[in-house]
Amino acid sequence: MTATVGILGAGKVGTVLARLAARAGYRVLVAGSGAPQKIELTVQVLAPGAEATTADVVAAESDIVILALPLGKHVQLDAAALRGKVVADSMNYWWETDGHREDLGGEGVNTTRLVASHLEGARIVKAFNHMGYHDLEDFAQPAGTPGRRAIAVASDDADAAAQVAALVDALGFDPLVLADLDAGIALQPGHPAFGANTSREELLGLVAAGTVA
Ligand SMILES: NC(=O)c1ccc[n+]([C@@H]2O[C@H](COP(=O)([O-])OP(=O)(O)OC[C@H]3O[C@@H](n4cnc5c(N)ncnc54)[C@H](OP(=O)(O)O)[C@@H]3O)[C@@H](O)[C@H]2O)c1
Repeated sequence: MTATVGILGAGKVGTVLARLAARAGYRVLVAGSGAPQKIELTVQVLAPGAEATTADVVAAESDIVILALPLGKHVQLDAAALRGKVVADSMNYWWETDGHREDLGGEGVNTTRLVASHLEGARIVKAFNHMGYHDLEDFAQPAGTPGRRAIAVASDDADAAAQVAALVDALGFDPLVLADLDAGIALQPGHPAFGANTSREELLGLVAAGTVA
């Protein structure tokens, strides 16, 4: 059972997810690129109940670690520290942030596979990447709410996917578990499901539309 949720990245997405997770009753640890003191106030104000700490502590003490940093910086992540961990990758290639990079943004590149090859031995799940941070903020709803929005989850590790799906549900969204990590490419920028803030059924349709050749 997930007790502690760790978040690497204290920006727009990281702080919203931290706030939702703290509200859902998890212990929440957040780390940025530098010392905890740099993000302490941000975390205190934007995610009451969450704790600013170091990336080492996030990796050591979290049951699920969410990656919420710029994709181009994933090579900075400590693979040894995250080995064996369930890691949810919310990152997207965004040229405005990452620069023009064919290795990250080329046709057919599943960016979570790149992250997985850096984080060898981590239990990688693609999740939280297709919905804008303001929608995460505005549309979190209790289970059973009519029209509840959905978030897709994709992994080759069924148990890790199930753990992240349960987190998605606890944070306020219906989880949609895709077949495997390859299927998760349909959630990336340039595909119909990217940006989706819709019900599980409609999200399934958008994913299918993005998977058709
Ligand atoms: N914005 C959205 O609506 C949205 C939605 C879904 C997914 N995403 C994806 O989520 C990721 C974060 O987006 P964002 O909009 O939250 O970006 P953001 O507001 O720029 O925040 C990124 C954060 O990552 C931190 N960071 C940089 N390197 C780090 C490292 N090595 N370890 C830990 N933290 C590090 C940055 O801290 P410093 O300032 O100290 O460098 C910054 O606080 C991106 O990959 C983005 O594509 C964004």
